[in-house]
Amino acid sequence: MNEKWNALKERCKACQACPLWETRTNVVFGDGNPDTDILFIGEGPGQQEDLTGRAFVGRAGQLLDKYLAAVDLDRTQIYIGNMVKCRPPQNRDPKPEETESCIGYLREQVRIIQPKIIVCLGRIAACRLIDPAFKVTRQHGEWIQKGDIRFMGTFHPAALLRNPGQKPAAYEDFLKIRAALDELAAFK
Ligand code: URA
Repeated sequence: MNEKWNALKERCKACQACPLWETRTNVVFGDGNPDTDILFIGEGPGQQEDLTGRAFVGRAGQLLDKYLAAVDLDRTQIYIGNMVKCRPPQNRDPKPEETESCIGYLREQVRIIQPKIIVCLGRIAACRLIDPAFKVTRQHGEWIQKGDIRFMGTFHPAALLRNPGQKPAAYEDFLKIRAALDELAAFK
């Protein structure tokens, strides 16, 4: 796994497939433990992520860490990446063509990690990976089986910072994630 993973990371770091490379400081390949059953996918790096090259290290990432801790998880047990690996200027949504030129890296990451569970953080990831019509407010917390992988869409932590009223619903989703991981462990 290591060799393929490192080769992919090096290729990604040198990527110039879409215009986002021109304004990036660092490529944010992803963080955590690639030897895991669970992959979290966000939207794209923000300012702190661009500056550090690490995924979810800004305010949204700190909130995410609290949700992980609330269900007894941490970054050593999960892998976390994004739909696009370079920061869209002013944190705008990634354009469909940027997502499409980047998605090959995510596909390779999934092929190598072979997760059993993928959690989409927010609309951009859920619409691309689960269903183009996905509505986070209505469908968050639902499991969708696709092939060997169970997908769930939940609130993006940045959205929770803007709408704290959604925090209890997000916590319920994380409890479901914990239960699904416990179920997997029981069958190992
Ligand atoms: N928001 C995201 O979607 N991804 C990050 O890495 C940070 C903030």
